[in-house]
Amino acid sequence: MSEINLLDSYPRAKRPIAANRAADRRQQAVARQFGPEYFDGTRMQGYGGYRYDGRWVAVARRLRDHYGLRDGHRVLDIGCAKGFLLHDLRQGVRGLTVVGLDISPYALTHAMDDVRPLVVQGTAQALPFCDRSFDLVVAINTLHNLDRPACIEALGEIERVSRGGRYVQVDSWFNDQQRESLMKWLLTALTFCEPEGWRRLFAEAGYTGDYYWTITD
Ligand SMILES: C[S@@+](CC[C@H](N)C(=O)[O-])C[C@H]1O[C@@H](n2cnc3c(N)ncnc32)[C@H](O)[C@@H]1O
Repeated sequence: MSEINLLDSYPRAKRPIAANRAADRRQQAVARQFGPEYFDGTRMQGYGGYRYDGRWVAVARRLRDHYGLRDGHRVLDIGCAKGFLLHDLRQGVRGLTVVGLDISPYALTHAMDDVRPLVVQGTAQALPFCDRSFDLVVAINTLHNLDRPACIEALGEIERVSRGGRYVQVDSWFNDQQRESLMKWLLTALTFCEPEGWRRLFAEAGYTGDYYWTITD
């Protein structure tokens, strides 16, 4: 298990923190449906347009190199949304099998054409896959959307279905200002804490994989 930022190439989001979208419970309720408003509505309700722009290409390469992904390997992305990372992994590793899972029917029906047949609807807490069936399992900015007990279950599921690499990235902070910014920004997250708190949660879940933090400045 190691703390490693495999999204270091990913552009830092420009977030209008001052608007304090977390103050509006209606927006949170809409966002938590993970429907059209969350992905392709306004910035105050979610992504403000979740579109492919190539930013996952470098992340896919980093995952490939770090975990030694190659022909014949299988990768699962939990919370794959429209499958951008899966698409770039397929492009970057010949012969790789990719599978995506997401709770959102909207995201999956709007997944990129080449990965749409490879994604399934479901929840991170009960993965419909066999034990040790993936060489790498990733969950990027997904698990903090579950409450604490569900988060622990989901980490257990990652342990169960992986026979190799595991990588999760979740909301956290290194200082009070970042914590304050996150509190104003968050819409959908139910579990968030400082790195030490996450490490305790990982230990409770028996999670043995790698991890890093999404920091809101
Ligand atoms: C912040 S988005 C991250 C999407 C993508 N991984 C990325 O980093 O761009 C969170 C994703 O998790 C999905 N999600 C939320 N709760 C989930 C659950 N219980 N099981 C699986 N997916 C879930 C949402 O539908 C959404 O696609």
